Amino acid sequence: MSIRFEVNGKTVDVEVEPRMTLADCLRHQLRLTGTHVACEHGVCGACTIIVDGDAIRACLMLAVQADGAKVVTIEGLSNDETLTPLQSAFRKHHALQCGFCTPGMITTAHALLSEEPDADADRIREVLSGNLCRCTGYVSIVEAVLEARAAYRKPHRGTPG
Ligand code: FES
Ligand code: FES
Repeated sequence: MSIRFEVNGKTVDVEVEPRMTLADCLRHQLRLTGTHVACEHGVCGACTIIVDGDAIRACLMLAVQADGAKVVTIEGLSNDETLTPLQSAFRKHHALQCGFCTPGMITTAHALLSEEPDADADRIREVLSGNLCRCTGYVSIVEAVLEARAAYRKPHRGTPG
C-alpha cells in the first residue's frame, strides 16, 4: 500500500505491507533507527514517538494508520548544533546508562512538557510510568525532566526536544 505522511517536518511516500508496524516502517524503510524496539507489544515504551502531538507506541500502530499524520521521532527532537534542553538535562543528571530507553523517555517527556510545562514530579512519574528503564533507575530521569521544564515555559520558542 502507498502511504504519505510527514516525518520530522518532511513529507515521505512509502510502500508498506498492510501489516507493517509504524516502528518497522520508520526503522527499516526510512532508516530512522532512533526509535527503538524491544517488547513489540506496547509494554516498554522504547518505541514511543509523537503522532499529531500525542505520544504513542510505534509498535502498536500500523504504518498505514499514519497516512496523512504528522510524525515526530527522536531524530526530530534534536539538532546538530547544540544539545536540546531535555538532552542537556539528561546528561547533567546522568539520566541514562545504556541509552536504549532514552529516545522513548525523551519523546514521552517532550509530549508531556509541550502540553504541561508545569508538570510536577508526581505527574512526570505517572506519565513516564509506561517507559521502562532497565539500568538507570528513575530518580535521575525524573530530575532531568523537572529541570527541562523551564525551556518549555518560554513563550514563542521553537520546538524544544
Ligand atoms: S517496543 Fe513498543 S512498547 Fe515496547
Ligand atoms: S538507560 Fe539502559 S534501559 Fe534505560
